[in-house]
Formats: sequence, structure tokens, C-alpha cells
Amino acid sequence: MKNKFLASAAMAVSMMAGSAYADGQLNLVCSTQQDWCEKMVAEFERETGIDVKAVRKSTGETLAQVRAEASNPKIDVWWGGTGDPHLQAAELGLSAQYDSPELGNLLGWASNMHDISGGRTAGIYAGALGFGYNTEIFAEKGLEPPACWSDLLDPSYEDEIQMSNPHSSGTAYTVLATMTQLLGEDEAFKYLASLGNNISSYTKSGSAPGKNVARGEAGIAIGFQHDMIKLAGEGFPIMIVSPCEGTGYEVGSVSIIEGAKNLENAQKWVDFALSAEGQEIGAKVKNYQVPSNSGAAMPKEAPDFASLKLIDYDFATYGSTDTRTKLLVRWDEEVGTN
Ligand code: G6P
Repeated sequence: MKNKFLASAAMAVSMMAGSAYADGQLNLVCSTQQDWCEKMVAEFERETGIDVKAVRKSTGETLAQVRAEASNPKIDVWWGGTGDPHLQAAELGLSAQYDSPELGNLLGWASNMHDISGGRTAGIYAGALGFGYNTEIFAEKGLEPPACWSDLLDPSYEDEIQMSNPHSSGTAYTVLATMTQLLGEDEAFKYLASLGNNISSYTKSGSAPGKNVARGEAGIAIGFQHDMIKLAGEGFPIMIVSPCEGTGYEVGSVSIIEGAKNLENAQKWVDFALSAEGQEIGAKVKNYQVPSNSGAAMPKEAPDFASLKLIDYDFATYGSTDTRTKLLVRWDEEVGTN
């Protein structure tokens, strides 16, 4: 009897050694949607026993934090958000090189991010830009649905459109980079300045315009199609459009921060985030990006990339400090919303 007690006490101690307490911590910033972040954290904690402290921040906002904390980083790993700011962090030496054993299972567009960043980031998902419009508002006001980027300049949409601010939001930076690649830089800024006449609000996060349109606070949102498909699936009256001229896309990425205090745990997070099992968690909370692990199931709700008219997005150029800084300065001067 005594021995049995001792054996179970020893077992309790060894379980503690494998518990959150014993396995330490991980400081995470998610630039995905909040619900996916929470679900991912819960599953990772359950699997590893590591205690994760997570906050959701937009992609540009996170890059600003990582830059400000370079000499004393508080974040260990940055998961999700558009790839360009992750590439900029890599170029500035703010993220750490890591070759996950999962790299070999990634599709080409995701391992490309690893290659161009010198091994400091990797792609976890892809998502295409588009618009969403509120069908009830459109019916009430007798508005014609937009089909093309050029349609968004129509005066009938005055104060009906929302998009995010490209300083804070990776989604809006993807819009800036996409229009520049579609039209050339000068024409893109003319377009964005006149689009400004129809914009009622530039939000901090990239998914906010879709949510506001879903709730009837505006008529049209510019953002990622999968964010608006999520809202339509939740029953909101929102219709998704893929622009006729073609559209840009993101490669959502994951990076370990240089000087991370919990490096091994950060590597475990990256392995989990790149695994098929980890990537399938998104669809469980209606996040319908295209997963980057070739073994992960494709959510049936995800936009079919093969049938979309996608531009050949130049990540090396638009993820560089020179280009991103130049476009953001021009945004302030010519669109002027900051
Ligand atoms: C949403 C999307 C992600 C995207 C992110 C960018 O969460 O679902 O695919 O990467 O927005 O966020 P941001 O606020 O930086 O535009």
C-alpha cells in the first residue's frame, strides 16, 4: 500500500515535469484572426505542456514592435500575418534563421519565403485579396455590385468603402503592393488617392472592414476573400468578389524573433505551425486560407486559387525595406490618412 502511494507520488512529480509549469513559456504574437490564435494556442499547450502568452496584433504593428524591442525582445515567435513585413524583419536581422523538419512538406510558394529570407521565415498559408459587399445595403440603396478595382471609384460608392491602413495592417499593404504591380506606381497612387473619396474609414486591422460591412456599417470592404467567406458562412449578408483585372495575394508567414528568450519552445511552435495537423486547426474555427503543408486538408470553403486571376506577386521586392518604406511614405503624402 505504502509502495503504491510512493509510486503514484513519483508519477505525479514526473507529470509535473511534463506540465506547463515545468516546460516553460512561450511569448507569441498572432497576426491571424483572434479565434484561430486562441484555438492554436490551446492545442499547442495541450500537446506540449508549454504555457503560451499570446496577443493578437496586426502585421505592420508587430513589425514596429519587433523593431522597437530589437535590443531586448519580448516576443519569441510571430505567427501569421502577411509575408511582406516578415520578409522585412528578416532583412533587418530581427528574425532568426531556423530550418524546421517540416520544411520539406511545404508547397513551393511557402518554401520560397524561407529561401528569399535566408531561412528566417516560412509560409503557413495563402490568401487572395478581393471585395465583399453587403447585399442588404446594396438592395436598399439600389447600388450596382462592383466587379473590378476600377468600379470602386464610382461616385455612387461615396463613403461606402472601408479598407485598413497599410502602416498597421499587412492586408492594406498587400493592396498597395498589388495596385502598384497591376498599374505601375504612379497610376496606383492616383487610383488610391481617388479611391480615398469613397472610403469612410481606414481601420487598424485588415479583417475589420469585412466585419463592419457584415454588420451593415458600410457597403463594401476591401480585404482578404477568406475573411469575408468566413463572415458569409456565419450567416452575414456579404457577397465576395474577385476583381476582374486580377488580384494580389499574401503568403501568411511565421518567424522566430532574433534573441528569443524561449528559443526551443519557439522552434516547437514553428514545427507545429508548419505541420499538417497544426494547419488543419484553422478551418475548425472557419479560417479558410490555403494551407502550405502539402499534407494538410484543403478547406472546401477556401477560394480555388486555380480559378482566380492572380498577379505574379513579387515578394522579394515588396517585402524589402526600401520598397515598403517608399510606398508607405508615398501613401502618407498622396493618400494622407495616417
Ligand atoms: C486576417 C487574415 C489573415 C491575414 C491577417 C493580416 O487575420 O485572416 O490571412 O494575414 O488578417 O492582418 P492585418 O491586420 O495585418 O491586415
